[in-house]
Amino acid sequence: MRVVIIGSNGQLGMDLSSELKNHELVLATHNDIEIKNEKSVFSFIKDSEPDIVINTAAFHKVEECEKTPVTAFRVNALGVKYLALACLMADAIFLHISTDYIFGGEKGLPYNEDDIPNPLNVYGITKLAGEYFIKSILKKYFIVRTSGLYGKHKCRAKGGNFVDKMIYLAEKKEKIRVVDDEILTPTYTYDLSIQIKKLIDTNFYGTYHIANNGFCSWYEFAENIFKLTGLEVNLEKTKSKEFAPKVKRPLYSVLENKKLKSLNMDFMPMWDDALKRFLKGKN
Ligand SMILES: NC(=O)c1ccc[n+]([C@@H]2O[C@H](COP(=O)([O-])OP(=O)(O)OC[C@H]3O[C@@H](n4cnc5c(N)ncnc54)[C@H](OP(=O)(O)O)[C@@H]3O)[C@@H](O)[C@H]2O)c1
Repeated sequence: MRVVIIGSNGQLGMDLSSELKNHELVLATHNDIEIKNEKSVFSFIKDSEPDIVINTAAFHKVEECEKTPVTAFRVNALGVKYLALACLMADAIFLHISTDYIFGGEKGLPYNEDDIPNPLNVYGITKLAGEYFIKSILKKYFIVRTSGLYGKHKCRAKGGNFVDKMIYLAEKKEKIRVVDDEILTPTYTYDLSIQIKKLIDTNFYGTYHIANNGFCSWYEFAENIFKLTGLEVNLEKTKSKEFAPKVKRPLYSVLENKKLKSLNMDFMPMWDDALKRFLKGKN
């Protein structure tokens, strides 16, 4: 298949670009396409003649989204609408990356694809709007909701990932305080890319949760990073309210890969196994 990857030099885009090499790839960075701009999207997709378009691009600095909601809407909702329309015109499949932040956390149990979204912040609202555009425009789509990404390549928007940040702070011998009341599933971009590779070989279109299996608090995640690296640290538990957050975030956003399981296609390893492989530098 001819596969367009948008955001190809991003954290997830880089792993997808490596893992989908069995396809004919068209790699698009922000220099090649501006998803806020309808003309840019329509001409790039038309010229690429894709069988499938994979969109990893987003405005996902959560605090910045709160400060500039119009820009967040233009990228995460309207940009996705233009991509969906371009796919419709090109008769291409659309695979779009969404987020656990479309949920509010009140369920307190793993969220599956049938649960009703309730985003708490601008980022979540605009990503959910993007999903609705796709569902109202296309039949041949995959919406992939994932969470807590980390991988070999840095998240461009955030300048790194949680694992790198913990190791950096530990090496600086700083006291580290991490919240133990936000529960999620950290997800390794390599595992996610392999799962996406298998999914696009099917025509089982629809909305999917794809995260590593299991869950932990950010504190437990940090604890595991230090256990596995052997770094000695002064690690303390704290509560999210102590940070006086500027943005509301779900306290519980664990994703259950229910749809993949129902298709016997859930190949996502446990989150702690993924972390071990990542830290050893092995896939
Ligand atoms: N990171 C997480 O923890 C997490 C969790 C759940 C879901 N997600 C979702 O996962 C996806 C990928 O995240 P990531 O960590 O790989 O992000 P990333 O490293 O920041 O990569 C995003 C890519 O998209 C490009 N991009 C941004 N705005 C664009 C625009 N308006 N037009 C065209 N290209 C644009 C970026 O280019 P420039 O850097 O040059 O602008 C970059 O190449 C996002 O959709 C995000 O919402 C992320």
